[in-house]
Amino acid sequence: MSESTIESSLPEKRLFHPRAEFSQNAHIKSLEEYKSIYDRAKADPEQFWAELAEQELHWFQKWDKVLDWQPPFAKWFVGGKINISYNCLDRHLQTWRKNKAALIWEGEPGDSRTLTYAQLHREVCQMANLLKQLGVQKGDRVGIYMPMIPEAAIAMLACARIGATHTVVFGGFSAEALKDRLVDAQARLVITADGGWRKDAIVPLKQQVDKALADGGATSVENVLVVRRTGQDIDMLPGRDRWWHELQHTISADCAAEPMDSEDMLFILYTSGTTGKPKGVVHTTAGYNLYSHITTKWIFDIQDTDVYWCTADIGWITGHSYAVYGPLSNGATTLMYEGAPRASNPGCMWDVIEKHGVNIFYTAPTAIRSFIKMGDHLPKARNLSSLRLLGTVGEPINPEAWMWYYRVIGGERCPIVDTWWQTETGGIMITPLPGAIPTKPGSATLPFPGIIADVVNLEGDSVETNEGGYLAVKYPWPGMMRNVYGDPERFRRTYWEHIPPKDGQYIYFAGDGARRDEDGYYWVMGRVDDVMNVAGHRIGTMEIESALVSHQAVAEAAVVGKPDEIKGQEIVAFVTLKNSYDASEELKKELKQHVVQEIGALARPGEIFFTDALPKTRSGKIIRRFLRFHAAGQELTGDTSTLEDRGVLDKLREGEG
Ligand code: WT7
Repeated sequence: MSESTIESSLPEKRLFHPRAEFSQNAHIKSLEEYKSIYDRAKADPEQFWAELAEQELHWFQKWDKVLDWQPPFAKWFVGGKINISYNCLDRHLQTWRKNKAALIWEGEPGDSRTLTYAQLHREVCQMANLLKQLGVQKGDRVGIYMPMIPEAAIAMLACARIGATHTVVFGGFSAEALKDRLVDAQARLVITADGGWRKDAIVPLKQQVDKALADGGATSVENVLVVRRTGQDIDMLPGRDRWWHELQHTISADCAAEPMDSEDMLFILYTSGTTGKPKGVVHTTAGYNLYSHITTKWIFDIQDTDVYWCTADIGWITGHSYAVYGPLSNGATTLMYEGAPRASNPGCMWDVIEKHGVNIFYTAPTAIRSFIKMGDHLPKARNLSSLRLLGTVGEPINPEAWMWYYRVIGGERCPIVDTWWQTETGGIMITPLPGAIPTKPGSATLPFPGIIADVVNLEGDSVETNEGGYLAVKYPWPGMMRNVYGDPERFRRTYWEHIPPKDGQYIYFAGDGARRDEDGYYWVMGRVDDVMNVAGHRIGTMEIESALVSHQAVAEAAVVGKPDEIKGQEIVAFVTLKNSYDASEELKKELKQHVVQEIGALARPGEIFFTDALPKTRSGKIIRRFLRFHAAGQELTGDTSTLEDRGVLDKLREGEG
């Protein structure tokens, strides 16, 4: 991490205490209560998690051992039998919640639907039975490539119900990216829709699936289940493709949840790392169920009367943990929205809050910054008084954006939970508990009970107060990833050996820079590796470089992030062409389109510079630091002595792009 990032962040002195009315009714009511829970958890984590597992979840069979830790491989609640679909559905049917709204769906354009717990249970059972009929067995992998419609959640819960492992692929990924993930997971079936609405346009999801399964594609896939959403014409391959709406009513809604071993694989979710190939992050059943459940309860302070809205797409971990599993396990009402703010409807988010009386709203800093840009008049023209709690996730939130969120959306009444976590952690790790922990704009504040976090140097020693270092976790927790699918060595190397074990203690390396202030509050600075955060989406520089190099004109490519006011970072690519190709505007366009085709629109470079050569060390490693300076339009500073050919920098400076 460069020191300049740390020095440039002004000391933030504002402190916001939870209001008494909020604290009185909250699950965790005071700083003292938080501290006492935290200390108790730290003194005996296994006892702490075991008590919660007993109180908060239904078990078919209790575990024999809380934690089996063979670093870096953890097993939680060993010997237990549990089903997360049972915990999200069946157990609520035995209570008054049976007819409570489980899922409120606000669709585009103008559709909406509400499913009670009983109705959601019924549809999940039907889809689960259909999956079985189509040959899906316990342990099989199922791909889910869906728009934000209730059937996306139904598909996840149906897989969980019969013990199939789901792998959800964000609908914004291209056919090529979908294929890679289906191949890696060896998926047996794919659940998709004819299309999905995305900002006034239709995304042809089924067509992308067809491409992903075409010659040389994902050959493990035997069946495709298609949900009708947009009604457009699509090709259906006889024997492989089936319509959900045609089969649903022929199928029994009687399907008992399969008792799963605690450590059976619940899902794989692919995320970007520092190499060109995304990692399949593996999460298992019991620990994930407990961790997503209890973090939802305490951090979002879920009450039975709340309408809770997490804006994340189910293609990301936030959608898994905080739009589907966490809220449903708590018996809450979760809202799902298919739309997104766009020129034709810039105030749509505020309309949804007003229409459904949303009480808890959880979104990303990049969204907040775009709301600011669209103007205060939009939220001010709606009644947002139902809101009582706000949340943010995905990247550091700048204090100005925090203050705007607090004032304009929260009416200076709602606490803000700035939640730090990752796909790998399964749930929120560092966060305020809203009735207990005073907040500072821009800080994720303190670790969740049971999480032993630290800021360390590369030797694993804690750094001084306010000194920059690496964010680390020093003890296993139930929601932690268990493995990289099919690549345990990569798991070990990436997360547990970057900082070598110290005195036999393994240290989880998160890939983020951070500092801790005099109150012990964490300030997360952003990634310290070659991973970018573009509009809240995590994407590896190497992934985009591989995509560029796969184009016939490209000899070499280097990709860096450039600071961007709304998106956080913008993708900038430096490309050297093969001799027979000439630089041109058309070629730039073509290369951008090529990246969209290889990965998806979320990876489209904002800018491409053509250059004769890239700055490299004598051993041939690209020095991205220089390119970052160049992309940001800053003067080059720092040591250039490692550079093999200094002339390269002068050429970049002359703006050969
Ligand atoms: C990376 C994880 C799991 C949340 C959605 C993104 C960054 C996440 C914060 C926050 C500062 C944050 C980190 C992290 N990040 N939340 N509150 N403050 N940075 O999940 O795609 O796995 O990305 O997002 O850099 O490592 P993800």
